Amino acid sequence: MRYLDFLAALHERVRPRAYLETGVRHGDSLALARCPAVGIDPLPSLRVELPASAKVIRETSDEYFGRERPLRPLGGRRPDLAFIDGMHLFEFALRDFAAVERWSHWTSTIVFDDMLPRDVTEAARDRRTRAWTGDVYKLLGILGRHRPDVLCLRVDTRPTGLLLVLALDPRSSRLMNRYDEILERDLVADPQPVPAAILQRRGALEPERVLESGIWPYLREVRETDTSRDEGVPELRRIARRDLGRIRPGGRRGLLPVGA
Ligand SMILES: C[S@@+](CC[C@H](N)C(=O)[O-])C[C@H]1O[C@@H](n2cnc3c(N)ncnc32)[C@H](O)[C@@H]1O
Repeated sequence: MRYLDFLAALHERVRPRAYLETGVRHGDSLALARCPAVGIDPLPSLRVELPASAKVIRETSDEYFGRERPLRPLGGRRPDLAFIDGMHLFEFALRDFAAVERWSHWTSTIVFDDMLPRDVTEAARDRRTRAWTGDVYKLLGILGRHRPDVLCLRVDTRPTGLLLVLALDPRSSRLMNRYDEILERDLVADPQPVPAAILQRRGALEPERVLESGIWPYLREVRETDTSRDEGVPELRRIARRDLGRIRPGGRRGLLPVGA
């Protein structure tokens, strides 16, 4: 399944009341939103017609989240669904994640693009290919090591895979507190080895199976009933285990695939 088809189906499952994305380019992913939506991109080159409820903000994501009230373009609503697809260097994606999580509900879903590069050249920090994932795949290991409390699902979409992060904690500041430590470990110059498990997509989940999971109706239900994170996360993990198999929080040293 192509990532845009997966995202369209995910919108139907999540039924977001607000949507946010970093990285808009032609507008293909932003155009899927049927709710108040904001796309952040310093250099968008729109080619598709966007719904009237979608706004494009011409800023880098760091500038945008440096605003005093970043939810203002969404009428103050926290996004139930967010897509991180801006600058494809892991430290940018990491900052985007921390900022989006801070402004989300615990029931929100954050999706990263380009988590399954097809080869080492595509995953280089210094862009040399037309299709470029950069090294954002490192987010899986980083979340596994520093945020074992969130639920990570890697999805085997074309062309370069997605990572869904659930069970968010908007109050957590752990990633930004450890930002320098994370960069010291993971900021490696090209050419850098990409783990075989990532390149071979070992354990990445079938998109259809993820979409059919009971996760989505459950998340909508706890959102409606305002269930607390402490109460809701154990059941969310149980449903994920039942429908998708054993979920490992990033695997050994955070490098192994997550999923069944
Ligand atoms: C891969 S494209 C986005 C594609 C789009 N999400 C889709 O699937 O249709 C990446 C975009 O990220 C934008 N970008 C680069 N640096 C950024 C930053 N610091 N903050 C936000 N967007 C950025 C680029 O201008 C580019 O348009």
